[in-house]
Amino acid sequence: MYPLRRNRRLRTSEAMRSLVRETAITPNDFIAPLFVVEGKNKKEEITSMPDYFRFSLDLLEKEVKELWSLGIKSILLFVKVPDNLKDNAGTEALNNDGLMQRAIRAVKNVVPEMLVMTDVALDPYSAYGHDGIVSGGKIINDDTTAILAEMGLSHAKAGADILAPSDMMDGRIFEMRSLLEDEGFHETGIMSYSAKYASAFYGPFRDALDSAPVDAENIPKDKKTYQMDPANREEAVKETLMDIEEGADIVMVKPGLCYLDIVRDLRNEINIPIAVYQVSGEYSMIKAAAEKGWLDHDAVVIEQLTAIKRAGASMIASYFAKDAVKLIS
Ligand code: PBG
Repeated sequence: MYPLRRNRRLRTSEAMRSLVRETAITPNDFIAPLFVVEGKNKKEEITSMPDYFRFSLDLLEKEVKELWSLGIKSILLFVKVPDNLKDNAGTEALNNDGLMQRAIRAVKNVVPEMLVMTDVALDPYSAYGHDGIVSGGKIINDDTTAILAEMGLSHAKAGADILAPSDMMDGRIFEMRSLLEDEGFHETGIMSYSAKYASAFYGPFRDALDSAPVDAENIPKDKKTYQMDPANREEAVKETLMDIEEGADIVMVKPGLCYLDIVRDLRNEINIPIAVYQVSGEYSMIKAAAEKGWLDHDAVVIEQLTAIKRAGASMIASYFAKDAVKLIS
């Protein structure tokens, strides 16, 4: 007696495997996050993110040209704000000549076709490291969303293509969309961090921007009153459907690897593009294990990115974007 069906026939060679492969990652899938600092000729390695850097505007221009030449057509900008410009309301975020606004113009100036996405959240600008205004030990929702909408408008005016609110305040997509429409920015898109979890994987990012919640009296130590509980699944669908109703063009699940069930739930439920953010801690784990010689860096990178796409991601924000595109070309 022999087995009637032998699944191994379809795995006999690389040619055969590639013929039946269901998922492929391509340069079109990637959004490259970029960290920007003030100054000139600066390329600072982030301690907890080996081989990842903060760039001053001149070197950002160089980096963006290189990304474009590799086939990466969208970037997501984050800025590191000097301490003396931080306050509770994130006032500097509205400065039309602030670092973010100048970074957007710089990128559009060197590679006009590059799709520029911008982080819209108060934490890099917040003296307390929170994504909203802090008062009486709480994060104040509605005053924050009004500022976020203004912040988004200022990015749109500087030339941003897609605003990416990463704050998890309620109602901010509606507020932001409404202001954009009022002001005539009908084509500026919104990529909402709709299912963003209160994750311990954001640590290295907070090092990169020096944006961790400060340790002081009456300041919440974590972001659990606005970011989602990692234990919840149904809630991700609710959050995301609300953001779509409020006007989001693209929604996001964040982090990636631990939340692929959520990605698949959403893929089955909704019909707009889903971005997945493979976050800083996911990057650093791979780097650390590879440095010790315990994991094959390149193989693990491709495996994880493929798994994210297979789960249902339409696009992936990843610190490995450049590595991955080189590996698959
Ligand atoms: C904050 C923000 C965070 C990230 C993106 N935007 C951190 C946080 O919520 O504290 C994390 C990204 C990463 O870890 O790579 N608005």
